Amino acid sequence: MKTSGGLGLRGETQSRTMTIAGIMSGTSADGIDVALVRIRRGSSRDDVPRLRLLAHVAVPYPAAVRKRILQMMNAREASVAEMSRLHWRLGQLYTEAVETALRQHPMRLDLIGCHGQTIYHQGIAQCYLGSDVACTWQMGEASVVAARLGVPVVSDFRPADLAAGGQGAPLVPLLDYVAFHDAKRNRVLQNLGGIGNLTMIPADARQRDVFAFDTGPANMVIDAIMTEGFGKKYDAGGTMAARGRVLDAVVERCLRQRFFQAAPPKSAGREEFGREFVAGFLAQCRKQSKRPEDAVATATALTARSIGLAWKHFVGPALGHATTDYIVAGGGVKNLTLMKMIGEELAGFGKIRVKTSDDFGMPAAAKEAMAFALLAYQTWHGLPGNVPRATGAKRAVILGKITHD
Ligand SMILES: Nc1ncnc2c1ncn2[C@@H]1O[C@H](COP(=O)(O)OP(=O)(O)O)[C@@H](O)[C@H]1O
Ligand SMILES: [Mg+2]
Repeated sequence: MKTSGGLGLRGETQSRTMTIAGIMSGTSADGIDVALVRIRRGSSRDDVPRLRLLAHVAVPYPAAVRKRILQMMNAREASVAEMSRLHWRLGQLYTEAVETALRQHPMRLDLIGCHGQTIYHQGIAQCYLGSDVACTWQMGEASVVAARLGVPVVSDFRPADLAAGGQGAPLVPLLDYVAFHDAKRNRVLQNLGGIGNLTMIPADARQRDVFAFDTGPANMVIDAIMTEGFGKKYDAGGTMAARGRVLDAVVERCLRQRFFQAAPPKSAGREEFGREFVAGFLAQCRKQSKRPEDAVATATALTARSIGLAWKHFVGPALGHATTDYIVAGGGVKNLTLMKMIGEELAGFGKIRVKTSDDFGMPAAAKEAMAFALLAYQTWHGLPGNVPRATGAKRAVILGKITHD
């Protein structure tokens, strides 16, 4: 979208401070996070916005919805009618999630930022029907949300970055910069959702110095093996991984794959680490061990070592020897075996302090939803939301589409 002169559609002064609901549902397809956030911009145009989290509410997807989403992601064939229905049904579920949040924490919203559910993402162009095409698709009809809640909605954040030559991901780095940049300390933000992503903010960095990329699977492979082996959605607390033995040869073989070796920018999803990857991974594990807990431990180690590898090749060399805060968020924070393995991986790289975003006053489960509240605020004011060094875009662009109530 285009706006003139960077002014907000409803007048810059009028909407300088806004109460915004950020709605996020990630690749884990575990459910919907709603963050209610107050955002205001500093006095000068260069000042970064200031955010205050008012409340966070997590609403799990109904089991049948989650099953359908997982089936549809990356499906070779899907019915057009069913895709359309799911798109509209998700619009209802996002609305209901915000209603739940507002019942618990009554307040008046000025704006909503709704990421939607990624159903397909291919950040790098491939030849299709005679031309190179990159594409991304987030489901969840914003008109439903805007009409039922009577609040304008910004949605569809990724396509503008893709169209500007970026991979459309990751989009959290702006929030990482705004909330965590520090004059004296290097900061690395790690998200452990379905996929792992990392944002690097050197001490005293400007926004243009921020660098980010996906590290590989975080919980996605662990979750899939827990479902297949134990009929569970995830490895609660990491207890299953703690009981298993890591099959080193499997991890090493996986890490030789192109994705892990490739230099950033890079982004991943179920297209890389979904059903097919898990089938191959399990087949390799089973050659060495019949115990499913060993496969869970091995998947957990894959996440930790992929982060270690990313540090060795891309993060460590850029940050040098100064002390670095490594700040983790996302559902994976609750997997204590994963957190322990990551700590051990990074111990070899010098002065790194492993923390969670909660240690900095930002609940780990709320962070991504907060990011989409911030991106909605940017869009409303005609300001860019992508960080070109993170996505690979040629320029900073205004993200998303506005649906008026
Ligand atoms: N108590 C827990 N113990 C271990 N892992 C957990 C726990 N709670 C959540 N998780 C993991 O976190 C994932 C959800 O994290 P989230 O940040 O919402 O990811 P996404 O953004 O991909 O939806 C779950 O799929 C699960 O793997
Ligand atoms: Mg989630």
